[in-house]
Amino acid sequence: MTDLFAKFAPQIELRDGLLKSGVTDPFGLVMERVESPTVAICNGKRTILLGTYNYMGMTFDPDVVAAGKKALDEFGSGTTGSRVLNGTYVGHKEVEQALKDFYAMDHAMVFSTGYQANLGIISTIAGKDDYIILDIDSHASIYDGCALGNAQIVPFRHNNVEALDKRLKRLPPEAGKLVVLEGVYSMLGDLAPLKEMVAVSKAAGAMVLVDEAHSMGFIGEHGRGVVELQGVIDDVDFIIGTFSKSVGTVGGFCVSNHPKFEILRLVCRPYVFTASLPPSVVATAATSIRKLMNSADKRAHLWENSKRLHAGLRQLGFTLGTEEPQSAIIAVIMPDLEKGAAMWEALLNEGLYVNLARPPATPANMTLLRCSLCALHTEEQVGEILSMFAAAGRATGCIS
Ligand SMILES: Cc1ncc(COP(=O)(O)O)c(C=O)c1O
Repeated sequence: MTDLFAKFAPQIELRDGLLKSGVTDPFGLVMERVESPTVAICNGKRTILLGTYNYMGMTFDPDVVAAGKKALDEFGSGTTGSRVLNGTYVGHKEVEQALKDFYAMDHAMVFSTGYQANLGIISTIAGKDDYIILDIDSHASIYDGCALGNAQIVPFRHNNVEALDKRLKRLPPEAGKLVVLEGVYSMLGDLAPLKEMVAVSKAAGAMVLVDEAHSMGFIGEHGRGVVELQGVIDDVDFIIGTFSKSVGTVGGFCVSNHPKFEILRLVCRPYVFTASLPPSVVATAATSIRKLMNSADKRAHLWENSKRLHAGLRQLGFTLGTEEPQSAIIAVIMPDLEKGAAMWEALLNEGLYVNLARPPATPANMTLLRCSLCALHTEEQVGEILSMFAAAGRATGCIS
């Protein structure tokens, strides 16, 4: 018998080597209790959370929790069916209406995860003879959507408008083209130059899809994302998003003004051939989305947190993913995986959780400590976080 696991040998070796060095498994942490969007108990210790995607701190919002409990009581624990059969409840229509209101768009389609939203929309609209032109640092769900639809993939250098333009100009003018971009790239926390990219895409006759997973709720005057910040929301064809970040639950969606959009409900396999979200989840999502429409103060505080953390880390001597804070993600660049894991563990021992990210998820083979801020981190907590980085950085030799 051929061992089908043989292909995983390099990953097994890397993991074993890391664990043999005595470091705690950075990918096996258990949250024993979660006290709030910013504090949990891990290994019996109070730990500040700086590695969640709870940007707007909605997970413990009393209205959100109450809506979930009410739906659980009134509609039960799950739908046990697809959206196109028995799985559309009034709550699914309500959350789609909340999304249409949030984005001021004509259509909204909710999926069971953001991963499935990318998988479904991309694979359904771009098929075998079409071209998908995408940033090389795109999220795995975007790449998987391309593979599922079997389209021709044309990657271009990260955030490089000229490279995108060149690729587009080389394609047959009559071919179907979809340009796929992200508002915020989640590894380094940098923004895409959407204004310029949308302009060159439209000039080449391409449709444009923007994944705003890491900007919804926070970036733009109404929290509609980088498309809003850069004034191109009316020029893009599809916005993809998730409920697993600022919205604070689970689920994914696509919003659009395309007049034929609704047909996707019948032809998009990752929408049709899976069970719909539980009623409690769509109720929490709808309540959260409506509250995010009126969260300007929280957005302002989150920007303050992001600026304070970025400046403080830089002052301590860490190398960061962006020159200026551009989003709620601040990435600290580590020299290698060993140092990164040691620093991650030292921070955990101090009482701070961050995300350790490594290739292939990261660009240019980087090891990163990704810090994602929450609108509910207090000024004092950001101060505590910086003290922990200083202590852990010195203990591991990452800073002097
Ligand atoms: C850019 C991007 N798109 C899509 C997703 C998938 O979202 P979900 O967690 O809802 O599956 C993620 C999740 O990390 C993401 O970062």
